[in-house]
Amino acid sequence: MTYEPVPQRVLPHAPLQTFKVRRGRLTAGQADALARLWPRWGVRVEGQPLDLDALFGRSAPRVLDVGCGMGEATAAAAAADPARDLLAVDVHTPGLAALLRRLEADGTTWVRVADGDARVLLEAMLAPASLDEVRVWFPDPWPKARHAKRRLLTPEFLALVAARLAPGGRLSFATDWPPYAEEVEALLRDAPLQLVSRERPPSRPVTRFEQQGRDAGRTAHDLVAVRAA
Ligand SMILES: C[S@@+](CC[C@H](N)C(=O)[O-])C[C@H]1O[C@@H](n2cnc3c(N)ncnc32)[C@H](O)[C@@H]1O
Repeated sequence: MTYEPVPQRVLPHAPLQTFKVRRGRLTAGQADALARLWPRWGVRVEGQPLDLDALFGRSAPRVLDVGCGMGEATAAAAAADPARDLLAVDVHTPGLAALLRRLEADGTTWVRVADGDARVLLEAMLAPASLDEVRVWFPDPWPKARHAKRRLLTPEFLALVAARLAPGGRLSFATDWPPYAEEVEALLRDAPLQLVSRERPPSRPVTRFEQQGRDAGRTAHDLVAVRAA
């Protein structure tokens, strides 16, 4: 199966795009990685239910990394956590290709890379209670008030995450946009998830987006919430 960009699917109840469309060109190395590794490790987000045991070739706890960007933090966190499978999802083709390159270079074989909207993946493709952790590290902050409705984390998204987490499973969220952190903390009060920490999880590497924020003087805010049993 050669790589073909996935046409944008829209959920009837969530029609707004949560990402900025970026048309970055592929480097030669990214194109090569996509051609060779996509058939082995790629997943198209088209709404078909996923058999995770078949996808990963084993049964293990599973992590979903939503919006992996260029994949540096995704690859680093996965390399340090070989006992858990990781499914990374984004809509940005150069980022998916860059992640595939990193995984091959690191010898990390327990990661799969999905192209498409994480909301479709969660709603239509993943079974209830199938995940041990969902990571949303630095989602697009949409800082302008008129764009805030495009933020990924909404009451519906949090309810969906909770339904896909196994009892005791956790959501790890990070942002360097303080109003977004406050908004998510308020949403968690009414979500089927319990806030357990505002500390950076030791397992979260500094992400590319986080480093750009640091360089501009911004600070990361972390929230970790657990699905009640
Ligand atoms: C600001 S970047 C952060 C990337 C990375 N996590 C980091 O910290 O460097 C947010 C990423 O989320 C992706 N994204 C936004 N909405 C998404 C969605 N609904 N499904 C999949 N990816 C999404 C964007 O394409 C983008 O790559």
